[in-house]
Amino acid sequence: MDKSFIFGKATYGDNFTDREFESLRLSENFRSGVNTIIVSPRRWGKTSLVRKVAKIINDEETEVKVVSIDAFLCRSEIEFYHVFATEIIKQTSNKLEEWLDHAKKFLARLSPKFNFSSDSSVDFSISFDLAADWQSESDVLNLPQKIAEEKNITIVVCIDEFQQIAEFSDSKNFQKKMRSVWQLQDKVSYCLYGSKMHVLSGMFSKQSMPFYKFGDLMFLQKISTQDWITYICSRFEKTGKQISSELAEKICDSVENHSSYVQQFAWLVWTKTINLAGNEEFDEAYDDLLTQNGMLFSQYVDGLSSFQLNFLKVLADGIESGFTNSDIIKRYNLSSSANVARIKKALEKKELIDISGQKVTLIDPVFKIWLQRELL
Ligand SMILES: Nc1ncnc2c1ncn2[C@@H]1O[C@H](COP(=O)(O)OP(=O)(O)O)[C@@H](O)[C@H]1O
Ligand SMILES: [Mg+2]
Repeated sequence: MDKSFIFGKATYGDNFTDREFESLRLSENFRSGVNTIIVSPRRWGKTSLVRKVAKIINDEETEVKVVSIDAFLCRSEIEFYHVFATEIIKQTSNKLEEWLDHAKKFLARLSPKFNFSSDSSVDFSISFDLAADWQSESDVLNLPQKIAEEKNITIVVCIDEFQQIAEFSDSKNFQKKMRSVWQLQDKVSYCLYGSKMHVLSGMFSKQSMPFYKFGDLMFLQKISTQDWITYICSRFEKTGKQISSELAEKICDSVENHSSYVQQFAWLVWTKTINLAGNEEFDEAYDDLLTQNGMLFSQYVDGLSSFQLNFLKVLADGIESGFTNSDIIKRYNLSSSANVARIKKALEKKELIDISGQKVTLIDPVFKIWLQRELL
């Protein structure tokens, strides 16, 4: 079905807009074997972008294979090795004998076992007993290089939600192992991306960290209002409805061009529109947007201390800096400037705020509107 708007999962095809510059940069990196790191807040469009470029490369190039791995569910180094080995083997071939052959040849030391899912002959996972010795671990990390040599291709390994790795125990050591193996591979490049900005920035821009200067660091920006307007108007038209560019712009403005919310908001307006969208449909959709996301926001708030909540009030009030000012500390009951520093750290860890220099902002624009309605 041709959906008018897509949100809540990675988007594709006609529902993907703009990002031409980023797509080009990424596909150049993929073709020429340059490592890439992509960072942005959640739901701005990283997964959609990488998927789009991966598909283009896999369709167009016979000598480059892009493999996609999601680290989101990996809870430990061992789990990561399993997922890594499984996906590399699965996605670099579509022939059973080749899968078995690659595992046997390149993971011999680990005695790999294939576990096929009962309802499919092509879906499997690979397991092995990983004695934590360096040789077996590097065999797994070297798998893409071995397969690339064997098939005479180059491989791009994309790892989504890469920040997950920072949660593993003794993560820095694991990162050291990865980097030391990966940097010697001449037929494999990596695209590592994810959302926890402060975690990822720490992994890639701190000199003391193993992945320092690993590759081309991309901070994904928001899609421009002009591109969104074109997109929204054309999606309405394609489905026999209409919206003015002014109203489309108003949609973008109210959610600060946040990719997922622009799509969700536009979709809500679209569902309420019979022929031409107007202010009435806009207002109803705006209320729905807040209601639909409100459940989640209540959960965010339930998990906060009263100091943290007080600090969110400051931000919802539009104040972005000067929090240690005694006036603000008193007015919003924040206790002390040392406490403010602690609050900021905790909220950053929860991915609710972004700190850049002295400036602090709420990451989620709809959460901000919701806070203004509920708290002020
Ligand atoms: N290029 C794009 N064009 C249109 N909508 C997009 C685009 N990128 C992202 N979106 C919207 O944002 C949502 C989240 O995108 P996703 O790629 O999952 O983000 P991330 O991986 O950064 O969390 C998508 O469901 C879609 O609604
Ligand atoms: Mg994603």
